[in-house]
Amino acid sequence: MRVVLVGPPGAGKGTQAQYIASHLSVPKISTGDIFRANVSRGTELGKLAKEYMDRGELVPDEVTIAMVRDRLLQDDAREGFLLDGFPRNVPQAEVLKEMLAEFGASLDVVLELKVDDEEVIRRLSGRRTCRSCGKVWHVVFDPPAVEGVCDACGGELFQRDDDREETIRRRLEVYQEQTAPLISFYEKEGILAGIDATGPVEEVTQRALSVLRRFG
Ligand code: AP5
Ligand code: ZN
Repeated sequence: MRVVLVGPPGAGKGTQAQYIASHLSVPKISTGDIFRANVSRGTELGKLAKEYMDRGELVPDEVTIAMVRDRLLQDDAREGFLLDGFPRNVPQAEVLKEMLAEFGASLDVVLELKVDDEEVIRRLSGRRTCRSCGKVWHVVFDPPAVEGVCDACGGELFQRDDDREETIRRRLEVYQEQTAPLISFYEKEGILAGIDATGPVEEVTQRALSVLRRFG
């Protein structure tokens, strides 16, 4: 199955993506995670992406699209994938459609995770990420047993640079201006399904899976 997750920053895309991808047995492809991995390795791509990410802006399309194309050409993505964070504007969505058509494929469903701005700020200001395994925690909603330490692997937890309040506000504006138009784009394609992404993580996953069964 070929699935795209769309939703504002902090909607829980990364959190849900890991459960949904493992349920569907497809790779989870997160452009944010790929950029962050490049930032921590200090690559040229990482240096360029960091300038945009720290301001809450989108990384230029030509860079992002080339990176996604390379990833989609890998063997494990041939039969299906879950995209988290891509596409993020209409030009990216148009290129993705063309790219998949080249492989004789198309998207099955675009799942929109809906949350309001106050919830986004609550979630992002308390988010902590493990430096070793990448697992995402929340200081209130999903705290590890020992503050600052990942329960899964014992790694150190850190706060993302773009989770400062003023950057979160800019990311929300960028979402409204550039990413929200994807909703009507995919509605017209007849593959959009929206779910309420508030409430316990497991309940949101169940809502997502029941929608996917309708499209699968
Ligand atoms: P990206 O990493 O994609 O960031 P984002 O879209 O802003 O989304 P987040 O990762 O912040 O949130 P999420 O929805 O995954 O939420 P999470 O599950 O972590 O992109 C970062 C940057 O990279 C962009 O700003 C841009 O610069 C660049 N970029 C990426 N893709 C690009 C593209 N295609 N084009 C151009 N540039 C691009 O959850 C958040 C918190 O809430 C966690 O603490 C979690 O524990 C908690 N939580 C989750 N679910 C629940 C729940 N149900 N109840 C309570 N708490 C919950
Ligand atoms: Zn960890």
